[in-house]
Amino acid sequence: ELHAAKEESKLVSKYECQRSTPLHHQNENLTDALSAVEEEAEILDRKEDYSRALAFCKAACSLKCLTKPVSSIQDIKGLPNIGDHSRDIIKEILENGFSREVERIKNDHSLQKKKMFMSIYGVGPSTARKWVDVLQLATIEDVINCPSINPRKEARLAYGIAFHEDLKQQVGRTTAMRIRDIVHNELKTLDGEVTVEVTGGFRRGKQFGHDVDLLISHPVEGRETGLLQKLIHRLNSKGLILHGVMEESTFSEEMLSKSSKLTPKGQLDHFEKWIGIMKFPKNLETTPQDSVRDRKETIKDEFKEEGKKRIKLDHSLTVTDHNHIGSGLQEQINKSFQKSSTSYSPSPASLPSSSDLSELVKLAQSEREWRASRVDLIIAPASQYAYALVGWTGSKMFNRSLRLYAQRELDMKLTSHGLFDMKQRKPIQASSEQEVFEILKLQYRNPEERNC
Ligand code: GTP
Ligand code: MN
Ligand code: MN
Repeated sequence: ELHAAKEESKLVSKYECQRSTPLHHQNENLTDALSAVEEEAEILDRKEDYSRALAFCKAACSLKCLTKPVSSIQDIKGLPNIGDHSRDIIKEILENGFSREVERIKNDHSLQKKKMFMSIYGVGPSTARKWVDVLQLATIEDVINCPSINPRKEARLAYGIAFHEDLKQQVGRTTAMRIRDIVHNELKTLDGEVTVEVTGGFRRGKQFGHDVDLLISHPVEGRETGLLQKLIHRLNSKGLILHGVMEESTFSEEMLSKSSKLTPKGQLDHFEKWIGIMKFPKNLETTPQDSVRDRKETIKDEFKEEGKKRIKLDHSLTVTDHNHIGSGLQEQINKSFQKSSTSYSPSPASLPSSSDLSELVKLAQSEREWRASRVDLIIAPASQYAYALVGWTGSKMFNRSLRLYAQRELDMKLTSHGLFDMKQRKPIQASSEQEVFEILKLQYRNPEERNC
């Protein structure tokens, strides 16, 4: 039926966390357009004000949960969170096939330059605006050659600029799983019971991501302390670390009743973590031989597409089986990694001692067998694990709505550390994601349904 979406629109719940939002849906032409205007708002609006960007994002989220394509503006009557501006864009696309505003954005060279600069690790909207509007820079080369930019004070930015070619390349799902295994293997030498889970977009079923988010824990409360320091030390001595910043845990019990700090990037938590860039053999992506014949073609295809923004969802590469890729394949991966890691054996001592930009550029442009990838390592104690898993699985929008829902509908404070009942003044424990949803009186949503 032509207007099948019309019936659906009326049934869409107010909160994103009450809906099932898949990664791929029927209205991508509309949500892509809304994402473009959202992005413009994020780049141009002044710091701390992301209300406009949020409005476009929320409108897109409502469309993402429809299972039928929208064919007329009447179809979205009753659909929540569609503001006037978003409605106008949707209407124009439905009537004319395009939006003048989106076309204008696509042709806005100044904006596109800012967008490109924002893809640099360490660059946010204000830096991007300054580089384009004040310093009149247009390319990464301009940035590298600009005498007023030598971010000695901010190592992260220097690495971000120098290794932009590597870091702008998205990480593939298989690579993410291998990175998890590498980290897990190092952790196992410290404590056999440590757990490592891939979270973020990959856990939600994405085939590519801008980084790898690994949540580390231990079944015995307290045994997770000190692990991250030792892990980083081990990874570093194997030459697997390019740059990173360690953040100590700043958690205390009283934080459970307080909201975490809201930033445009999401809500900050108080876990001990390492945010950085790791080095991996370039051939981490090559298909392991033998014993994996049935999956081989699939994996090969994925590698071919590696780095491209969008690919078809590949159902044969188990999306639901998040962390396990089969023990046969596993062995091959480990072997192929060990082989390549000895052949390229990067030494930590070969890294420039300072974060001098020109030194780093030299390193980035040198003949090397490794590629740089963004990795987040987060440590959560067992008692907070279920909440941490929800928080680090995302999406950011899903988390935002969960927290808003908990606060407004249940008078509870939800963070990545726990849930606090404001009326009874006590925290509520949960030992699984299912339990978290249950306590929140919400239907359980698989990670794949949290793509809002
Ligand atoms: P891609 O990496 O682009 O695939 O998307 P992603 O959804 O994985 O995003 P990202 O890696 O930025 O974040 C993963 C999840 O962790 C999101 O749900 C964020 O809300 C959450 N997250 C990221 N950084 C922080 C942080 O500092 N604190 C907390 N609490 N959560 C964070
Ligand atoms: Mn991520
Ligand atoms: Mn991340």
